[in-house]
Amino acid sequence: MSQMFWCPAAPVLTDEVRHIFSDLPPDERFYSEMRKGTRFKAILGFAFEAGAWRYEPDLTSVFSRNPGESLDPRFQDVLLSAARSVTDVLEMVLPFQIRDYRIGMNFIRVTCSCDTIGDNSPPFHRDGFKRSLHICVERKNISGGISIVSSDPRGEEVLYEDIILPGELICFDDESLYHMATGIIANYPDQPAYRDMIVVDMID
Ligand SMILES: [Fe+2]
Repeated sequence: MSQMFWCPAAPVLTDEVRHIFSDLPPDERFYSEMRKGTRFKAILGFAFEAGAWRYEPDLTSVFSRNPGESLDPRFQDVLLSAARSVTDVLEMVLPFQIRDYRIGMNFIRVTCSCDTIGDNSPPFHRDGFKRSLHICVERKNISGGISIVSSDPRGEEVLYEDIILPGELICFDDESLYHMATGIIANYPDQPAYRDMIVVDMID
């Protein structure tokens, strides 16, 4: 298995999955140092047990940087259904068995305008997981949001540098590689501008 790969994942682009992003709660903590009010997120922990993917609320704290983060119960059923459809697609398209891992599935919207950059990520970093997988669901009225994966923390040995388009994913080894994504800025004023991503983190 290579340390990183790109892969098409277009079946993930269902209306159910797309609609999740407009209801996400603000992510005020981890990225608030960077640009307040531009980031929205929900996270679910899953493990494959007894022949099915099970929602594991206790896994959320393993994957989330926000202590005590939990799902809004009103939002839970629709989010779980969307997340299950994503795991179904990943089972089909990935060249490894994702069911061998426990996963944290993040639904993330980063917004911006013509004069406010939306931050997607800190500079080159690892998140402390085994593998990570970034799926693009939507890029609306934006420039930027270039994903970069490097084998060194200064970005001198870049393995991937490109825009992940809607319906595509990249997957990389988070133990040996570093990643980041550049900020986004709106192309046209007075229109919504955002980047919707699903980030799936994996641990043994
Ligand atoms: Fe990250």
